[in-house]
Parts: sequence; C-alpha cells; structure tokens
Amino acid sequence: MPLDDTTDVSTPTVPSPAELLVDGRGQEWWRTAVIYQVYPRSFADSDGDGVGDLPGVTARLDALAALGVDAVWLSPFYRSPQADAGYDVSDYTDVDPVFGTLADVDALRARATELGLRIIVDLVPNHTSSEHRWFRAALASAPGSEERARYLFRDGQGPDGELPPNDWQSVFGGPAWTRVTEADGRPGQWYLHLFDSSQPDLDWTNQVVRDEFLDVLRFWLDRGVDGFRVDVAHGLVKAEGLPDFRPADDAGSMGGGQDAAAATPPYWGQEGVHEIWRTWREVLDGYDGDRVLVAEAWVDPLDRLADWVRPDEMHQAFNFAYLETGWDAGAIRRVVDDSLRVFSSVGAPSTWVLSNHDVIRHASRLALTEDVPQGHGIGPASTARVVPELGLARARAASAVMLALPGSAYLYQGEELGLPEAVDLPDDARQDPTWARTSGARYGRDGCRVPIPWESGAPAFGFSPSGASWLPQPADWSTYARDEQQGVAGSTLELYRTALALRRAHDLGGQQLTWLDGFADDVVAFRTGPVTVVANLGDGIVELPVGEVALATMAVDGPALPPNAAVWLVDAA
Ligand code: NOJ
Ligand code: MG
Repeated sequence: MPLDDTTDVSTPTVPSPAELLVDGRGQEWWRTAVIYQVYPRSFADSDGDGVGDLPGVTARLDALAALGVDAVWLSPFYRSPQADAGYDVSDYTDVDPVFGTLADVDALRARATELGLRIIVDLVPNHTSSEHRWFRAALASAPGSEERARYLFRDGQGPDGELPPNDWQSVFGGPAWTRVTEADGRPGQWYLHLFDSSQPDLDWTNQVVRDEFLDVLRFWLDRGVDGFRVDVAHGLVKAEGLPDFRPADDAGSMGGGQDAAAATPPYWGQEGVHEIWRTWREVLDGYDGDRVLVAEAWVDPLDRLADWVRPDEMHQAFNFAYLETGWDAGAIRRVVDDSLRVFSSVGAPSTWVLSNHDVIRHASRLALTEDVPQGHGIGPASTARVVPELGLARARAASAVMLALPGSAYLYQGEELGLPEAVDLPDDARQDPTWARTSGARYGRDGCRVPIPWESGAPAFGFSPSGASWLPQPADWSTYARDEQQGVAGSTLELYRTALALRRAHDLGGQQLTWLDGFADDVVAFRTGPVTVVANLGDGIVELPVGEVALATMAVDGPALPPNAAVWLVDAA
C-alpha cells in the first residue's frame, strides 16, 4: 500500500504470535483466536422463564458463526443457587436446571462443532457455593475436622472469638469473614469468603481440594470442551498465617487497580498458585486438540501477569491492563507495547479485551464524566454520567483498534451491537451481591448484564418468547436489536462482522505490529500485515495516508479522519 512519504515505518521489536515456537508448538488456534463471551443468563431464553439457558444459546449459535468468531466462552451454567449469578457453584459436574441439563451441553457443543466454533467453559476454583456438599458437611462437623479443613475456618479474635480472624474485606463490600453457629447452638468459628458470604473460599493447601479439581477438569475435557476460563486465578493461595491487610485505595475491585509499588495483598497473586497451574497444565497436555487455560487474574503490573502464562502454566491471561486503559493514545501505545513484550517473553500470545460481565460496557465507560472503580458500576444517582453518542463512537473506534492487534481478542455479548451500560435499572431489580452488601453505595455489575436484544419487534426484543427478562431491558434497546443492524451499512454489527472477516482474511492475529511515525501524539497508527490502522483520539481532523478504506467507524470524507474514529486501510492485493 502506498503510504504517503511523510510516513516512516519503525522497526518491529517483538516476534509475532505466529512466529513464537514453544516446545516445537506455536500454531495453536488460541494464539490468534477471537473468543466471544456468552453470559448464559442474558443471551437467549428458550423456555420463557426470563433467564437465558443452554438451549437458547444453541438455537442462536449461528449468529456467532455469522459474526465470525472462533470460539465461545460460556460463563458458569453449573448447579448453583445463583447468589453470584452462577459464580457460586454447588455442583461442578452438573448443570443448573435454570440453564438445562448435561445433554443440553452436549447438544450445544455438537452444534458449535458443526459451525466450526470451539467451546470454553468457566471454572470457579477459589470458592464453592455455601450449598456445596462440602460446605454443608463442614458446617455439620466440628472445628478441626477434615470437613472444615477444605475451607478456611478460623477461630475469631477477642475474648469470646467475637471478632473476625483478620481485617480482610470482601471484594463485594463488608468483611470477608462470616461467623457460623456450631452444633450446640453457640456462635462458633468464622469462615473466609473473599466474595459473597455464600461463596466460602477453599483451602488450596489441602490435597483433597487439589485432587477434586483435577477430576473436574477431566470431567469436562472428557466431555469435549476446548478449554477453561479460570475464575479468580490470582486468589487461590493465601499468605501463611492470613496476616492483616488493608489495600491503600480500598478499591473493592477484583484486585485490579492496585498500586504496583504497594505490597502484594496476602490473598492475591501469591507464589503458590503457580504450582497449581502446573498440575492443571499437565492434565490438559494429556488431551488432544490444543485445549486451553485462560486466567482471570487481576494482577499488576503486566510483567507479573506473564508468570501466569509461562510455558508450563496457563495458555492465556486476560489483559485487564488494556481494558483499564482510558481514551488516551499514548497510554494505548504503551500498554500495547508492554503487552506484546511481556507475553512474548514467555512464549504466550497477548490477549485484548474491552468488556466483560464485571465492568461497565465500553460503549459507556469510554465516555464517563468521571472514573468509576471496577465493580462499582453506575446508576441513576451516580455523579458520573455517560455521554452516549461519544461513548458509542469511541467504543467503535476502540474495537476497531483491538481487532487489528496481534494475538487473541475477547468480545462480550452485546458489544457487537454497540450496547451501552443499562444505567437506569430500578433499585429493586438489582441482583449483584455488591449492591446489597454495600447497602446501595455501589451499584455493582447488573448494568452490563441486561439480556441482549435480538429482534426489535419481538417480546423482550427476542430474548425470551414470554417477554420475561430477569433484568429489565431499556425500552430504547429496540434500536440496538440484531435484526435492526443486520445488513445495514454503518451499523455496529456490520462493523464487527467486517473487522472479523478482514482480520481472518489477512491473519491479523498472527502478524507483527509496527507503529507508524508522522502522526500527532493523540493518534494511534500502526501497520499490521497489509493493513494500516489509524485511530483519532484527539479533537482535530487527522489526515489519512493514501489507501483504500476497508473499514471505517465513522463516515470518512476523503483523507480526513474525524475525532473519535478509526479506519483500516488495506493494500491493494
Ligand atoms: C470473577 C467473575 O468474573 C465475577 O463475576 C465473580 O463475581 C467473581 N469472580 C467471583 O467468582
Ligand atoms: Mg430460560
């Protein structure tokens, strides 16, 4: 492609994912894959109860194949009281009736295989539900018993043990300890829960716990899943003695936003987790077909996160540093450089992500009038406001940049429709435990979990045949419905579909990125394979190099790129 002559091409410094060879491998599908997160509660409801389910997912899978993704990650569908939307598992090898049956998982997988989609399931090893048979047995057993030793039960402090064993706070707000009533009816020991009190933390120093999860891995691998997204992969091991610790900023987030220079919290990112991942990796390596482990690890800085994806540990880790980077061209260039450098130094691909079920949707987050800590959410009484048109414009540009980057990218259901955060949910509809545990001081994550719209004229916009929806859908979401966008030039759905098709055609996941000089600081501009990507994060017009515009997030007039827009220029074949 003819670049105009003010444009210099700087020398690439990091190998591309496709060039990385670890133990003779390096071409595995996940190195360059685009993986779509299905949040089953909110994707598609087949039986009309207002909660999405597995037959609903199966019936709608062709839409994801048409979108052009490579794999689907399903948030938890296991047996669960749903106190944390399924991240509170009471049986790891069965399906909750609200979602279906094991046969429905098999049917979903079979349909995915027909469509060329891989399936990743979500595993939650840090904690079980308080309804898990192990925890019920622990409550029924005496202090010091082997039943209690699977969890973190401790005596309280104070003369009668009336104070918690330490000062740790739950990620969802309030103390991370709850006191139990012993068999004799008296107040007894306390158990640790880094999340809700219905999510007791397991004791991963206990071999029984370790062995159990190796069996759970094998159960799902035998059933043919392509891999696991591993929940709270930074939390399983706690520092010896459970020492007191108060985070400086008390951000209440999953652990992100820590000051890198501050001490590591005694419950996040402990060295001992790596030994666990090595045993898990051995299990996966015993199976054919490039099965994958993806870490949900909120660990700063990126150099430390790279430890999670060393060659004998996990395959990928979510890049939350990228997600947390604001609308700032310099910061984006830095986090992309850092990511490519640190992940390639251990032979792993970088990953990229902008939205998931725990953060404010990026179509709103990128145009907030003030920062909101991860997990706190926004609602009617928030001082932070969203500027909707600006948010959507930036989200489209941000996604266009992300989908051109080398490595593997994660999409969250609904972002391909340009869905914003649902801000005006009524208080009594909110279900995130964060909301109740902070007495409404934090809205939590319901705003990104509202069931997605499929058909503008159908009940619940096609989410549910009965019109029911476990969280109310905003009335104006009809305009975001998939059928309103399908085949409509300039729609967000068509933007994603085109980006994914070009990404595949030009193997962008496997290319090497080269920054382009000659642009202002508030521009992100790079070259990857035959594609030149230019994103304008400033206020002025950016003059584009010569080339054919194959993708534009806003109408482009000649060589002028407006603010909050991005384009891909593709070389003539
Ligand atoms: C991370 C999950 O993504 C989130 O939704 C959940 O609440 C916590 N882990 C606890 O399992
Ligand atoms: Mg249902």
